[in-house]
Amino acid sequence: MSQKSPKSLRSHRWYGRDDLRAFGHRSRAASMGCIRADYEGKPVVAIINTWSDINPCHSHLRELAEHVKRGVWQAGGFPVEMPAITLGETFQKPTTMLYRNLLAMETEELLRSYPADGCVLLGGCDKTTPALLMGAISMNLPAIFVPAGPMLRGNWRGQILGSGADVIKYWTERRAGTVDRQAWREIEQGIARSAGTCMTMGTASTMTSVAEVLGFSLPGASSIPAVDSRHFQMANLSGRQIVKMVWEDLKPRDILTLASFENAITAVLALGGSTNAIIHLLALAGRAGIKLTLDDFDELSKKTPVVANLRPSGHYLMEDFYYAGGLPALLRLLSSVLHLDCASVTGNSLGENVRDAEVYDSDVIRALDKPVFPSAGLVILRGNLAPDGAVIKAAAADPSLLRHRGRAIVFDSHGEMDARIDDPALAVDPDSVLVLRNAGPKGAPGMPEWGNLPIPQKLLRTGVRDMLRISDARMSGTNYGTCILHVSPESFVGGPLGLLKEGDVVELDIERQQLNMHVSDEELSRRRQAWRPRPDVYPRGYGKLFVEHIRQANEGCDFDFLEGTAPVPEPEIH
Ligand code: FES
Repeated sequence: MSQKSPKSLRSHRWYGRDDLRAFGHRSRAASMGCIRADYEGKPVVAIINTWSDINPCHSHLRELAEHVKRGVWQAGGFPVEMPAITLGETFQKPTTMLYRNLLAMETEELLRSYPADGCVLLGGCDKTTPALLMGAISMNLPAIFVPAGPMLRGNWRGQILGSGADVIKYWTERRAGTVDRQAWREIEQGIARSAGTCMTMGTASTMTSVAEVLGFSLPGASSIPAVDSRHFQMANLSGRQIVKMVWEDLKPRDILTLASFENAITAVLALGGSTNAIIHLLALAGRAGIKLTLDDFDELSKKTPVVANLRPSGHYLMEDFYYAGGLPALLRLLSSVLHLDCASVTGNSLGENVRDAEVYDSDVIRALDKPVFPSAGLVILRGNLAPDGAVIKAAAADPSLLRHRGRAIVFDSHGEMDARIDDPALAVDPDSVLVLRNAGPKGAPGMPEWGNLPIPQKLLRTGVRDMLRISDARMSGTNYGTCILHVSPESFVGGPLGLLKEGDVVELDIERQQLNMHVSDEELSRRRQAWRPRPDVYPRGYGKLFVEHIRQANEGCDFDFLEGTAPVPEPEIH
């Protein structure tokens, strides 16, 4: 590892020279009250902040940034906060996934165009974590990720409520007529009680855990509740650490290896984490020039037990996980199946980072021989409906549906599904297979979290609570149900899901990892010839760029021109 000198800092080109441009930079720094001693010869640390009034998961990030700044100052750096687009899962439509790559581009360009020597990334709501990391990996400046942290447990009439999972559960009961308006309103007021991200093991906590396992966060950072005082202490320590990393020139691609990605996959599986992690990990690896495929997930899934007893696969919430020892305790438990020599932002290996961690509650973090599920939290499927793969979170599905055959009810759009799903005339029974298509990366576009198709009301009233559902969409990591997702290639680009007809027999066999429609090859070829593409939804702007360049789900949904490790050109300063 090289050691930087003040004159070799990237920011020296902006602040340190005796020329006209540097004069302008220093005089405008002075206009903000800075004196030369604030920045002269010091690492400039960009704090990329995704705070926004419209993103409740990040509502505390301005305060958090102040704690990061304190740490940067204490360690002899110069902190500069830079706002970036927020991706607020609850409010942004049609889906934050449409904008993940935009934030990744913005992160890369902010770091590239301003005098940053290193960065602290503040995010946590689902897509912000992969987006910030993708941009930072491409820019390859020293980077540390400070997660927003999960919110407190939800509470309603003495019951613990979990984000997403309990929303779906009680909404299903509301549609079935077993939860009244008053109860529904009370749940609305009690389920989200503080700043922070969803507190189930949804996409947010899965991805902040991924960031930590990959080596981008201080040990234990991802498990600390957002409003816990130790969360602010972690932010301060991260500010101190990034200054050290700049001097040591410890960059993302010094940390990332195939082994660190295998560790991240193992952790996601042991956590019972979100299916969305598959797409994001493929994209992150692509930015680091590391070849990762669905087969890597498949292989590790067969031998990794789910040991975190967290909703939606298990019982507890992130607050419980933190008190039980958090991610370091889980990683230590998994030591025998992890690559412990992987590097991290601490300068120490993963093994050294978790060496002293302990499990304080063995029902929350189970022993390897007493898992929540013995293996295969996530299952990769293939077959004539998904030649390039599909995924199901078997741990959150009804076991009786994991080998299933039924007739397809096909919806061509979310609007059509809304219009037909509760129609009393819909020819649906509990064995039917609900299919939603044109909901993939290009088709929706943006691959929204529509994969948890609602159960028809007439079946809800007879007690049905789960059915086999298939789509080329994603599903919120906080949801559950027998939902096959990420069908690739998507129907919009001519994938076989687009050839399925209402009434066709569809078969899922989890054990054989097969997803097939029972339609002859001759008939499929006839349908393929008759298939016509649907018109694009976005004729202009970012949406057009997105549709023209987005990769499929099994490739990580990055833009084709952002993958790989081509050097990022430094801006000319004249
Ligand atoms: Fe932001 Fe769930 S809505 S993490």
